Amino acid sequence: MVRFKQWEFFKLFSIFMLLIVGLSMPASSSSETDLHWLWHDRCADCHGHSSDFAQKYLRVRDGSLLGLHHVDNLPEFLHNHYLPGELVDEVYALLLAQLNVPPRFKNECSGCHQTAAVFARAKLDFQGDVLSTKKTGQSVANFLKRHRGLTDADILFYVELLDRVGREVKLPVN
Ligand code: HEC
Ligand code: HEC
Repeated sequence: MVRFKQWEFFKLFSIFMLLIVGLSMPASSSSETDLHWLWHDRCADCHGHSSDFAQKYLRVRDGSLLGLHHVDNLPEFLHNHYLPGELVDEVYALLLAQLNVPPRFKNECSGCHQTAAVFARAKLDFQGDVLSTKKTGQSVANFLKRHRGLTDADILFYVELLDRVGREVKLPVN
């Protein structure tokens, strides 16, 4: 009888601890994997640069990503296509985002900075939630006010783009 009670107590205690651990974990379910590295490593040989590939072969309808052949079941297709299952959602989101954004970084910035992913890894990090330059810790939003004569609208556009890419390549958070 006593034994049974101890066991019950132990079970309750374990559930309680699991809850605490669960609640203290970040809400986002994103992996540690640098998605642009993954694409480069596993997909680029056949598909080239992810953004060029998305612009050329994929479309968006009602917020969903459609393939050329796999129109209604792209996530299912991706599950069976060179990709660990837990990364399907993140790669899907990456391709969707790339389709929704005009290739302005490529056209206006790549000449000096290569791709946005390469640039972000080399030069940027997060100070808390704020995308910043590694060199001075200044926010990218502030830095861009005196770079290339960008307008406020341009700055919003590039901060949003680089912030997304920064999360996709899993920049360190300081
Ligand atoms: C060995 C070559 C190869 C590799 C590596 C490869 N793919 Fe593909 N992929 C293909 C071919 C061939 C097709 C077209 C097949 C089809 O539509 O059924 C395709 C189609 C696709 C499509 C579009 C489907 C459509 O309906 O048009 C997506 C999205 C895709 N691949 C994503 C990826 C991702 C993400 C990776 C890396 C994790 C990857 N592929 C790696 C060969 C490859
Ligand atoms: C003609 C070359 C050139 C072009 C084009 C260019 N940049 Fe730069 N960029 C630089 C140089 C050089 C630096 C480093 C200068 C410095 O630290 O003040 C820099 C620094 C930056 C930084 C700060 C990161 C760091 O190095 O500390 C950001 C952010 C940035 N550029 C964004 C952009 C964006 C966005 C575009 C496209 C609109 C762009 N740049 C276009 C040359 C360029």
